[in-house]
Amino acid sequence: ASAKLWGGRFTGATDPLMDSFNASIHFDKRLFEADINGSQAYAKALARIGIITSQEQDSLVNGLDTVLNEWRTNTFVIQPGDEDIHTANERRLGELVGNVAGKLHTGRSRNDQVATDFRIWARDESKKLLIYVKQLINATIQRAEKEIDVIMPGYTHLQRAQPIRWSHWLLSYAWSWQADAQRLEEIIDRINVLPLGSGALAGNPFKIDRELLAKELGFKNVIQNSLHGVCDRDFVAELLFWASLTMIHISRFSEDLIIYSSGEFGFVTLSDAYSTGSSLMPQKKNPDSCELLRGKSGRVFGQMSGFLMTYKGIPSTYNKDLQEDKEPLFDAVDTLAGSLQITTGVLSTLTIHPENMKKSLSIDMLATDVAEYLVRKGVPFRETHHIAGAAVRKAEEHGCTMDKLELSDFQQLHPAFSQDITEIWNFEKSIENRSSLGGTSRATVLEQVHKLKEWLNIN
Ligand code: ARG
Repeated sequence: ASAKLWGGRFTGATDPLMDSFNASIHFDKRLFEADINGSQAYAKALARIGIITSQEQDSLVNGLDTVLNEWRTNTFVIQPGDEDIHTANERRLGELVGNVAGKLHTGRSRNDQVATDFRIWARDESKKLLIYVKQLINATIQRAEKEIDVIMPGYTHLQRAQPIRWSHWLLSYAWSWQADAQRLEEIIDRINVLPLGSGALAGNPFKIDRELLAKELGFKNVIQNSLHGVCDRDFVAELLFWASLTMIHISRFSEDLIIYSSGEFGFVTLSDAYSTGSSLMPQKKNPDSCELLRGKSGRVFGQMSGFLMTYKGIPSTYNKDLQEDKEPLFDAVDTLAGSLQITTGVLSTLTIHPENMKKSLSIDMLATDVAEYLVRKGVPFRETHHIAGAAVRKAEEHGCTMDKLELSDFQQLHPAFSQDITEIWNFEKSIENRSSLGGTSRATVLEQVHKLKEWLNIN
């Protein structure tokens, strides 16, 4: 028989290439802590039902503590036969505590074990990511509050559209990130259900107390069907989608900053801490941080689509395809942890140039305000839109801006125009007019700051 964990029915040796093809230890060793915590809880549950004595429980729990410490201090030595983290930990435990280690796996399978480990890991990492998202939102609202009086052009189709507050633009991303945070909180709840006690697929034959296991491992509930318990990886798919969408928000934010930091715009300058130079052109300062954030969004999306392809055709319960769930999620989580922190750094250290933003405002951006001026005088909006358009054209024909037209020019377009049209040529006023909930006026932007702070529980 082979010396492998599962070697009893085998007489032939595995092709060495198959051994390495099959092995996952080189990446799933990241689960060492979750694996050990899961095993310690399982040892206690086994003692509860009398499968092992309390001395045996202690010896397993203490032995596992030693293994944990070896991983933490980088002294755990991976042996050639250590197929995955579960095999490696059990092998090492046996060396430390002897035969009793062989009792630990009673009624357990690596199928419910790996599902448990991965959920513990994903839950704990998600909580860290949640903190990073909240730090990013916090940095955004701090800046938005401080720079509330800065105004800039707002764009649609990347064409100058209407004047807005810089803070309004900043907060538009804070709201996306808030939704990301809320989604992640919901996903954490769905991750946090316990597979352990599902056995290989059919359930545990020793009346293991799964509620107790759940409590011990911080799970909110137990998975109610053992077949489902060993194969459900929806949480991986959800996290990968979450990561993709969050990266899309980061990528679009970065894209805006790349544009705004170009010489032609000159709205912002990224700090040296998040820029790099050119090896050839001495004058260059490139927004590499933002470009990497934009680029990495593609990478995360790739991990999601790759995993979904793996996941889609698997028959019921555990199949080895599921071992392919780890690397995509590991990579996505690492990428998000880095990206969220870098985005926070970029955002909180960049310099803004309010004069350039102001210089980019043009009178034609007030054409909508001209139409609204007439609406306030009782003219139907559909008409006023045409009239304001005609005013834009007239200014173009005169080779001037609308504010330089004579009152008589306006009155030719519509008799409702009067002397007070001059009050329209004021970007601040245009901004302050947009004071309905969600608009760009000072008060409604500060209201957003207030709501986000309330949600973050600061103040
Ligand atoms: N390394 C495996 C994985 O990551 C652990 C489960 C193995 N189970 C099995 N029946 N071969 O999925």
